[in-house]
Amino acid sequence: MEHYIAPSLLSADFGRLAEEVAASEKAGADMHHLDVMDGRFVPNITIGPPVVAAVKRCAGIPLDVHLMIVEPERYIEAFAEAGADVITVHAEATPHLQRAVARIRELGKKPGVSLNPSTSLSAVEWVLQDVDMVLIMSVNPGFGGQAFLPSSLAKIELLRSQLNRAKLDVDIEVDGGIKVDNVGEAISAGANVIVSGSGIFGTPDYGKTIEQMRRNIRRAASTKT
Ligand code: DX5
Ligand code: ZN
Repeated sequence: MEHYIAPSLLSADFGRLAEEVAASEKAGADMHHLDVMDGRFVPNITIGPPVVAAVKRCAGIPLDVHLMIVEPERYIEAFAEAGADVITVHAEATPHLQRAVARIRELGKKPGVSLNPSTSLSAVEWVLQDVDMVLIMSVNPGFGGQAFLPSSLAKIELLRSQLNRAKLDVDIEVDGGIKVDNVGEAISAGANVIVSGSGIFGTPDYGKTIEQMRRNIRRAASTKT
Protein backbone atom coordinates (compact mmCIF):
# COMPACT_ATOMS: atom_id res chain seq x y z
CA MET A 1 0.00 0.00 0.00
CA GLU A 2 1.22 3.46 -0.90
CA HIS A 3 1.63 5.97 1.91
CA TYR A 4 1.16 9.71 1.47
CA ILE A 5 1.94 12.77 3.57
CA ALA A 6 -0.40 15.74 3.17
CA PRO A 7 0.77 18.77 5.18
CA SER A 8 -2.18 20.93 6.20
CA LEU A 9 -1.70 24.50 5.03
CA LEU A 10 -3.95 25.63 7.90
CA SER A 11 -0.83 25.86 10.05
CA ALA A 12 1.24 27.60 7.34
CA ASP A 13 1.87 31.34 7.31
CA PHE A 14 -1.04 32.64 5.18
CA GLY A 15 0.82 35.89 4.59
CA ARG A 16 3.49 33.93 2.72
CA LEU A 17 1.28 31.24 1.25
CA ALA A 18 3.13 30.75 -2.05
CA GLU A 19 6.45 30.40 -0.22
CA GLU A 20 4.94 27.91 2.24
CA VAL A 21 3.48 25.88 -0.65
CA ALA A 22 6.93 25.75 -2.28
CA ALA A 23 8.64 24.92 1.02
CA SER A 24 6.21 22.09 1.71
CA GLU A 25 6.84 20.61 -1.74
CA LYS A 26 10.59 20.96 -1.37
CA ALA A 27 10.29 19.21 2.00
CA GLY A 28 8.73 16.18 0.28
CA ALA A 29 4.95 16.64 0.65
CA ASP A 30 2.84 14.33 -1.55
CA MET A 31 -0.15 16.70 -1.63
CA HIS A 32 -1.41 19.88 -0.03
CA HIS A 33 -4.26 19.50 2.47
CA LEU A 34 -6.58 22.53 2.43
CA ASP A 35 -9.09 23.04 5.24
CA VAL A 36 -12.27 24.84 4.22
CA MET A 37 -14.39 25.94 7.20
CA ASP A 38 -17.65 27.87 7.14
CA GLY A 39 -18.29 28.94 10.74
CA ARG A 40 -21.38 26.72 10.78
CA PHE A 41 -20.33 23.10 10.47
CA VAL A 42 -17.32 24.04 12.58
CA PRO A 43 -16.78 27.11 14.77
CA ASN A 44 -13.96 28.49 12.65
CA ILE A 45 -13.90 30.24 9.24
CA THR A 46 -10.93 29.75 6.90
CA ILE A 47 -10.67 29.82 3.13
CA GLY A 48 -12.85 29.49 0.04
CA PRO A 49 -12.45 28.77 -3.67
CA PRO A 50 -10.33 31.87 -4.49
CA VAL A 51 -7.58 30.81 -2.07
CA VAL A 52 -7.73 27.21 -3.33
CA ALA A 53 -7.32 28.61 -6.87
CA ALA A 54 -4.36 30.72 -5.72
CA VAL A 55 -2.67 27.64 -4.25
CA LYS A 56 -3.40 25.72 -7.46
CA ARG A 57 -1.54 28.35 -9.47
CA CYS A 58 1.67 27.80 -7.55
CA ALA A 59 1.32 24.09 -6.66
CA GLY A 60 3.15 21.23 -8.36
CA ILE A 61 1.40 18.44 -6.41
CA PRO A 62 -2.31 17.53 -5.97
CA LEU A 63 -4.69 19.52 -3.78
CA ASP A 64 -6.58 17.56 -1.13
CA VAL A 65 -9.54 19.78 -0.19
CA HIS A 66 -11.31 19.01 3.09
CA LEU A 67 -14.74 20.67 3.19
CA MET A 68 -15.93 21.33 6.73
CA ILE A 69 -19.06 23.14 5.56
CA VAL A 70 -22.79 22.51 5.72
CA GLU A 71 -24.52 21.50 2.49
CA PRO A 72 -21.22 20.86 0.71
CA GLU A 73 -23.10 19.94 -2.48
CA ARG A 74 -23.69 23.67 -3.05
CA TYR A 75 -19.95 24.29 -3.47
CA ILE A 76 -18.59 21.14 -5.11
CA GLU A 77 -18.47 22.74 -8.59
CA ALA A 78 -16.72 25.82 -7.26
CA PHE A 79 -13.97 23.81 -5.58
CA ALA A 80 -13.59 21.53 -8.58
CA GLU A 81 -13.18 24.59 -10.77
CA ALA A 82 -10.70 26.10 -8.32
CA GLY A 83 -8.43 23.10 -8.93
CA ALA A 84 -9.14 20.61 -6.15
CA ASP A 85 -7.96 17.09 -7.03
CA VAL A 86 -9.51 15.33 -4.03
CA ILE A 87 -12.73 16.74 -2.55
CA THR A 88 -13.80 15.40 0.83
CA VAL A 89 -17.22 16.10 2.33
CA HIS A 90 -18.41 15.31 5.85
CA ALA A 91 -21.07 12.61 6.24
CA GLU A 92 -22.65 14.76 8.98
CA ALA A 93 -22.96 17.78 6.70
CA THR A 94 -25.40 16.48 4.10
CA PRO A 95 -28.46 14.20 4.02
CA HIS A 96 -27.54 13.27 0.44
CA LEU A 97 -24.03 11.94 0.84
CA GLN A 98 -24.18 9.55 -2.10
CA ARG A 99 -25.33 12.31 -4.42
CA ALA A 100 -22.52 14.56 -3.23
CA VAL A 101 -19.74 12.00 -3.77
CA ALA A 102 -21.22 10.92 -7.12
CA ARG A 103 -21.16 14.55 -8.25
CA ILE A 104 -17.50 14.89 -7.27
CA ARG A 105 -16.72 11.80 -9.37
CA GLU A 106 -18.80 13.15 -12.28
CA LEU A 107 -16.66 16.28 -12.27
CA GLY A 108 -13.55 14.12 -12.68
CA LYS A 109 -12.30 14.59 -9.12
CA LYS A 110 -11.56 12.03 -6.42
CA PRO A 111 -14.34 11.84 -3.83
CA GLY A 112 -13.62 11.48 -0.13
CA VAL A 113 -15.95 11.25 2.84
CA SER A 114 -15.05 12.31 6.36
CA LEU A 115 -16.30 11.36 9.81
CA ASN A 116 -16.13 13.35 13.04
CA PRO A 117 -14.74 11.50 16.07
CA SER A 118 -18.22 10.75 17.46
CA THR A 119 -19.69 9.50 14.16
CA SER A 120 -19.96 5.76 13.64
CA LEU A 121 -18.49 4.00 10.62
CA SER A 122 -22.01 2.96 9.66
CA ALA A 123 -22.49 6.51 8.28
CA VAL A 124 -20.21 5.65 5.34
CA GLU A 125 -21.10 1.99 4.92
CA TRP A 126 -23.25 2.49 1.84
CA VAL A 127 -20.94 4.89 0.03
CA LEU A 128 -17.70 2.91 0.39
CA GLN A 129 -18.12 1.72 -3.22
CA ASP A 130 -18.35 5.32 -4.41
CA VAL A 131 -15.35 6.95 -2.74
CA ASP A 132 -11.57 6.90 -3.16
CA MET A 133 -10.88 7.89 0.43
CA VAL A 134 -12.37 7.93 3.92
CA LEU A 135 -11.02 10.63 6.23
CA ILE A 136 -11.13 9.67 9.89
CA MET A 137 -10.96 12.81 12.04
CA SER A 138 -8.69 12.29 15.02
CA VAL A 139 -9.68 15.65 16.55
CA ASN A 140 -12.98 17.51 16.50
CA PRO A 141 -12.66 19.57 13.32
CA GLY A 142 -12.26 23.32 13.50
CA PHE A 143 -8.72 24.10 14.57
CA GLY A 144 -5.14 23.05 14.08
CA GLY A 145 -2.92 22.12 16.97
CA GLN A 146 -5.37 19.98 18.98
CA ALA A 147 -4.47 16.75 20.77
CA PHE A 148 -4.87 13.42 18.93
CA LEU A 149 -7.88 11.37 20.10
CA PRO A 150 -6.68 7.77 20.60
CA SER A 151 -10.19 6.34 19.96
CA SER A 152 -9.63 7.08 16.27
CA LEU A 153 -7.10 4.22 16.08
CA ALA A 154 -9.72 1.53 16.79
CA LYS A 155 -12.00 3.18 14.25
CA ILE A 156 -9.28 3.11 11.59
CA GLU A 157 -8.56 -0.55 12.36
CA LEU A 158 -12.20 -1.50 12.06
CA LEU A 159 -12.61 0.42 8.80
CA ARG A 160 -9.49 -1.15 7.28
CA SER A 161 -10.74 -4.64 8.14
CA GLN A 162 -14.16 -3.85 6.63
CA LEU A 163 -12.51 -2.54 3.44
CA ASN A 164 -10.27 -5.60 3.23
CA ARG A 165 -13.21 -7.92 3.67
CA ALA A 166 -15.10 -6.12 0.90
CA LYS A 167 -11.91 -6.09 -1.24
CA LEU A 168 -12.15 -2.33 -1.64
CA ASP A 169 -9.01 -0.35 -2.40
CA VAL A 170 -9.93 2.83 -0.53
CA ASP A 171 -7.45 5.21 1.10
CA ILE A 172 -7.83 5.93 4.81
CA GLU A 173 -6.73 9.43 5.70
CA VAL A 174 -6.20 10.48 9.30
CA ASP A 175 -6.39 14.15 10.25
CA GLY A 176 -5.70 15.88 13.55
CA GLY A 177 -2.91 15.81 16.10
CA ILE A 178 -0.50 13.74 14.00
CA LYS A 179 3.20 14.31 14.68
CA VAL A 180 6.45 12.43 14.13
CA ASP A 181 5.88 10.54 17.40
CA ASN A 182 2.43 9.08 16.71
CA VAL A 183 2.37 8.74 12.92
CA GLY A 184 3.46 5.10 13.24
CA GLU A 185 0.39 4.21 15.32
CA ALA A 186 -1.93 5.58 12.64
CA ILE A 187 -0.13 3.54 9.98
CA SER A 188 -0.21 0.37 12.11
CA ALA A 189 -3.96 0.84 12.52
CA GLY A 190 -4.39 0.95 8.72
CA ALA A 191 -4.28 4.58 7.65
CA ASN A 192 -2.23 5.38 4.54
CA VAL A 193 -2.76 9.13 4.03
CA ILE A 194 -1.36 11.28 6.80
CA VAL A 195 -2.44 14.88 7.38
CA SER A 196 -0.27 16.99 9.64
CA GLY A 197 -0.52 20.74 10.16
CA SER A 198 1.22 21.98 13.28
CA GLY A 199 3.24 18.73 13.32
CA ILE A 200 5.04 19.97 10.17
CA PHE A 201 4.55 23.76 9.86
CA GLY A 202 5.17 24.20 13.58
CA THR A 203 8.65 22.73 13.26
CA PRO A 204 11.74 24.66 12.11
CA ASP A 205 12.79 22.27 9.33
CA TYR A 206 9.84 20.87 7.35
CA GLY A 207 12.12 18.60 5.30
CA LYS A 208 13.67 17.00 8.34
CA THR A 209 10.24 16.51 9.95
CA ILE A 210 8.77 14.85 6.86
CA GLU A 211 11.86 12.64 6.59
CA GLN A 212 11.41 11.54 10.22
CA MET A 213 7.72 10.90 9.58
CA ARG A 214 8.57 8.76 6.55
CA ARG A 215 11.04 6.76 8.60
CA ASN A 216 8.37 6.05 11.22
CA ILE A 217 5.82 5.27 8.51
CA ARG A 218 8.20 2.76 6.88
CA ARG A 219 8.97 1.15 10.21
CA ALA A 220 5.28 0.78 11.13
CA ALA A 221 4.36 -0.50 7.66
CA SER A 222 7.13 -3.10 7.64
CA THR A 223 6.12 -4.57 11.01
CA LYS A 224 2.45 -4.78 10.07
CA THR A 225 0.92 -8.24 9.84
C1 DX5 B 1 -8.81 20.33 11.70
C2 DX5 B 1 -8.31 20.24 10.27
C3 DX5 B 1 -6.93 19.69 10.17
C4 DX5 B 1 -5.90 20.53 10.87
C5 DX5 B 1 -4.92 19.58 11.44
O1 DX5 B 1 -10.12 20.71 11.70
O2 DX5 B 1 -9.16 19.40 9.51
O3 DX5 B 1 -6.56 19.42 8.84
O4 DX5 B 1 -5.22 21.43 10.04
O5 DX5 B 1 -4.00 20.29 12.20
P1 DX5 B 1 -3.02 19.55 13.21
O6 DX5 B 1 -2.21 18.57 12.44
O7 DX5 B 1 -2.23 20.68 13.77
O8 DX5 B 1 -3.89 18.87 14.26
ZN1 ZN C 1 -8.33 18.74 7.50
